Amino acid sequence: MAEVFLEAKGVSKTFVGVKALDNVDLTIGKGEIHCLIGENGSGKSTLIKVIGGVYRADSGSVKIEGRELHEHGMQTIETIRAGVQIIYQDLSLFPNLTVAENISINQMLESNQQTVNWKTIQESARKALDEIGEEIDLNERVENLSMAKKQIIAISRALTQNAKLIIMDEATSAITKEEVDHLFSIIMKLKERGISILFVSHKLSEVFEISENITILKDGKQIGVYPTSELDNDKLVYLMTGRELEYAPYIYNKKLAEETPLLSVEGLNKERQFHDINFNLQKGEILGITGLIGSGRTEVAQALFGLNKPDSGTIKMHGKAVDIKKPEDAINNGIALLPEERHGQGLFEEQSIGDNIVITILKSLLVKLGLLSQFKRKKAGDNWIEKLSIKTPTGDNPVNSLSGGNQQRVVLAKWLATEPDVFILDGPTIGIDIGSKHTIHEIIRDLAEKGMGIIMISDEIQEILDNCNRVLLMSNGRIIKEVEDSTTTTADELFDIVTRSYEEEAGA
Ligand SMILES: Nc1ncnc2c1ncn2[C@@H]1O[C@H](COP(=O)(O)OP(=O)(O)OP(=O)(O)O)[C@@H](O)[C@H]1O
Ligand SMILES: [Mg+2]
Repeated sequence: MAEVFLEAKGVSKTFVGVKALDNVDLTIGKGEIHCLIGENGSGKSTLIKVIGGVYRADSGSVKIEGRELHEHGMQTIETIRAGVQIIYQDLSLFPNLTVAENISINQMLESNQQTVNWKTIQESARKALDEIGEEIDLNERVENLSMAKKQIIAISRALTQNAKLIIMDEATSAITKEEVDHLFSIIMKLKERGISILFVSHKLSEVFEISENITILKDGKQIGVYPTSELDNDKLVYLMTGRELEYAPYIYNKKLAEETPLLSVEGLNKERQFHDINFNLQKGEILGITGLIGSGRTEVAQALFGLNKPDSGTIKMHGKAVDIKKPEDAINNGIALLPEERHGQGLFEEQSIGDNIVITILKSLLVKLGLLSQFKRKKAGDNWIEKLSIKTPTGDNPVNSLSGGNQQRVVLAKWLATEPDVFILDGPTIGIDIGSKHTIHEIIRDLAEKGMGIIMISDEIQEILDNCNRVLLMSNGRIIKEVEDSTTTTADELFDIVTRSYEEEAGA
């Protein structure tokens, strides 16, 4: 093996009631691309935060090039000085600063000058974005950007530093295959320069494509380190989850369809976002919408949920035109949206898990005199925690004590609790581990079989084909193709159509 760069030994960390890490080892060689994988809540982010000096381990050590880190208490700066750049799962960007400021923030902080040289900041941010071939307006405030763009900015920021190890905690969960390909080509170049990478992802295809070695965590324990070449998908899934997963396509029960569709979208337009969007959704259907980022799919979803006002067009529920100006109108008309970005949009991070789940159904839990039934409230929350296997000792814990993937389940539960007629899921399994993904897909199918109309938006064409009976392909704000029966198409065919339409547009 190559010379060792980072060596963590016997790391343990307990939070109240949870043993997040139990005697975990991790070794990363110089210039090695190493993957850390495991189910939601298995301890990946906690281990990374111990390396980063965000949490202090109860026991164990972390050495970098033979020198022990955090010997004298934890210090984030020490990790950075040792040459480690970490892209945390929540990205830690400054929402109210611009793109350029976010990318160059470390340089701004490090420079001894009293005044900020805006020209240098712009130039170095431009250079970082050029390096990964991205065009993003440098003066845009980060809070106005999509999740994918934010991830790109976090990656660019790590690249501007002279890092020897870059740790990416699910930095690619929302970026498209093309962008991931591009990132991987950069990672390969970094590797040639002797830079090590620790990569966390729930997308196993990425793990196989990029990594040389894989460390697997399960319930806070390290259960093995394997050369990637010795594993295949099924083996890895089995090691991670302890079970084998089987997929069958979703077969739509046509009997559920009614003469009047559940939802009809007619001639929906918004300048520069989407054009001439027409489609119907029947009860019991799982309609997939896919296409590259910027295809307009998220904007259409937001329009249906009252978050983005279209210029023209009609939305009908049960054949009747409905006026949706704000999310409340959508909810009252039986439409719910699981947003693409859960942080900020989805959760009150310091409130309890239970309260976050029941927040949308408070009205139905009110008893006479307007008093909230504590009993009902707890019961409703606990019910969903169990149904979605949210990993927590109690629903009274704050949402921010949950692992990333478990926080996503809380958002899902919160909207499911409203029992909508139409449920729009924008990236339903972003950041969800492979075993739980399967569980969530089953829940979605169950809901559809009971008559809910589902719109599933995803980058993962395979996920769309596996779960949707009908698929719309969007490109540049338009629906360019409808696949009536998803069992007749392969993921490669769909992907080809999407990329070709983009190339044509670019060439035009
Ligand atoms: N600040 C905290 N307070 C209490 N418990 C915590 C805290 N941070 C993490 N935990 C718990 O530690 C365990 C490991 O969480 P961690 O975030 O490391 O998981 P993960 O492997 O990164 O999962 P994911 O894939 O969902 O991101 C979980 O049970 C989580 O609830
Ligand atoms: Mg995590």
